[in-house]
Amino acid sequence: MIRMEKIRKIYSTGKVDVEALRGVNLHIKKGDFVTVIGPSGSGKSTLMNIMGCLDKPTTGDYILNGTNIKNLNDNQLSELRNHEIGFVFQNFNLLPYASAYENVEMPLLFAGVGGKKRKQKVEAILNKVGLSDRMDHRPNELSGGQKQRVAIARALVNDPNIILADEPTGNLDSHSGREIMELFVNLWQEGHTIVMITHDPRAKEYTDNFVNITDGKILREELVA
Ligand SMILES: Nc1ncnc2c1ncn2[C@@H]1O[C@H](COP(=O)(O)OP(=O)(O)OP(=O)(O)O)[C@@H](O)[C@H]1O
Ligand SMILES: [Mg+2]
Repeated sequence: MIRMEKIRKIYSTGKVDVEALRGVNLHIKKGDFVTVIGPSGSGKSTLMNIMGCLDKPTTGDYILNGTNIKNLNDNQLSELRNHEIGFVFQNFNLLPYASAYENVEMPLLFAGVGGKKRKQKVEAILNKVGLSDRMDHRPNELSGGQKQRVAIARALVNDPNIILADEPTGNLDSHSGREIMELFVNLWQEGHTIVMITHDPRAKEYTDNFVNITDGKILREELVA
């Protein structure tokens, strides 16, 4: 599903070059639930941006579902991203003036899915994340945990192959954080492939597949093929 070979990422800003990733090898199989753990500045978001096709590595190969992204132009890259990846962010990234229903419907509108099918999918997925009774609520009428459920529903609605979550529990109290983790575990048990980035070491209690990243390098390499 995901194969990274000798990935390096160098940011050149002004006089200094920052080597944010220094030779990362990573292999994630379909159905894995991987947590990437590491301190601030270790390269987690950089890794996530590359994994999510939001950015390209400076050198090295990233093969996503059989496609080496090196060979793609920007349009092809965003096409691949829309098909393959569902994103979940720390700050939810919901549209403030849209209801939970409309937020989840958005990716289906972009994908040109017809009205009846859309309604079915949106209702089913909001039901799955336990928000059937909150469909008409706007984000400011929802709790943090409920907002993140909407964001997860939105990430799932297009049936992506991979869910990428960057600190999904970072803005939640510990109770809601646990509920969101349990939701991810349920999705994993249903067969979804999930990569979750965090600096919370407790996250690894939920899965035995974890990767430690420090200074742009992966320390535990048991996932390396
Ligand atoms: N766009 C950029 N331009 C230049 N340097 C960057 C850029 N983005 C990140 N960096 C640098 O790359 C390194 C890795 O940053 P990254 O954002 O990947 O860390 P992180 O592990 O996600 O940290 P945090 O836990 O604080 O979110 C840092 O030293 C950072 O300063
Ligand atoms: Mg980060």
